[in-house]
Amino acid sequence: MSAHRSDDTGFVPTMGAFHEGHISLMRAARREHRNVCVSLFVNPLQFGRNEDLSRYPRNEQRDFEMADEAGVDVMFVPTADEMYPQTPTTIHVHDLSERWEGESRPGHFDGVATVVAKLFNIVAPRTAYFGWKDLQQCLVIRRMVSDLNMRLDLEFLDTVREHDGLAMSSRNTYLSAEERSVAPMLHRTLTQVIERISTNLESVERSIDDGRNTLQSAGFNVEYLDLVSMSDMRQFRTEADAALIVAARLGTTRLIDNLRLFAPWQTPIS
Ligand code: PAF
Repeated sequence: MSAHRSDDTGFVPTMGAFHEGHISLMRAARREHRNVCVSLFVNPLQFGRNEDLSRYPRNEQRDFEMADEAGVDVMFVPTADEMYPQTPTTIHVHDLSERWEGESRPGHFDGVATVVAKLFNIVAPRTAYFGWKDLQQCLVIRRMVSDLNMRLDLEFLDTVREHDGLAMSSRNTYLSAEERSVAPMLHRTLTQVIERISTNLESVERSIDDGRNTLQSAGFNVEYLDLVSMSDMRQFRTEADAALIVAARLGTTRLIDNLRLFAPWQTPIS
């Protein structure tokens, strides 16, 4: 169901340090709306105590130039004090928030849901754009929008990859030259596992175990590699709609990625 405002704004929430993934969202918003707004806010609420808030990559000047080139009309760049003048009321998306990334990063999705809800209320967009690279984030936001009857549409766009398959991420800049040369193994392994599973659904566990071993041998510290249902992110049973998800560390850098099992990615969900 789509609920349209009288104004016509496409909105891309970001934490800056733009790459082609962000730009593809901005371009889609530009194509589809009269006004395009991008927020740039490194949201402290979604970082754990031992995470990378203080060293998260920041390059505002370059971000403004890239956004300008992509045809963005308004950059919204609030401060933490403006967003959170007092201990904030928070949003918890039950269940979906608690698995996978939620287990590795407790409280992360409460921070994401809370800031995204605030940004939606401030910007009042007709459509908000997110990348499938952060698959669980997309599902958490979709559930929040549905559960809280928020009046906007969501569009989720395909992951943008480097020429060697590595999913674009602001955190890729943390990788040393050596780690960067190993990092594309993540996508390569996902592809191999998906190919094996697609031809033989009986081999799910074995294929995933082999994938995990391949990554461990290449130097990754694998947090999870699993096939999950796209509806609730529980372990795959028999649903047609599933995704292979991975989180793994290379040195101190934590990378996530995913591949869909059957359907093509770019199905807008509203
Ligand atoms: O994906 C991100 O960059 C962030 O999680 C988001 C959605 C902008 C919320 O801070």
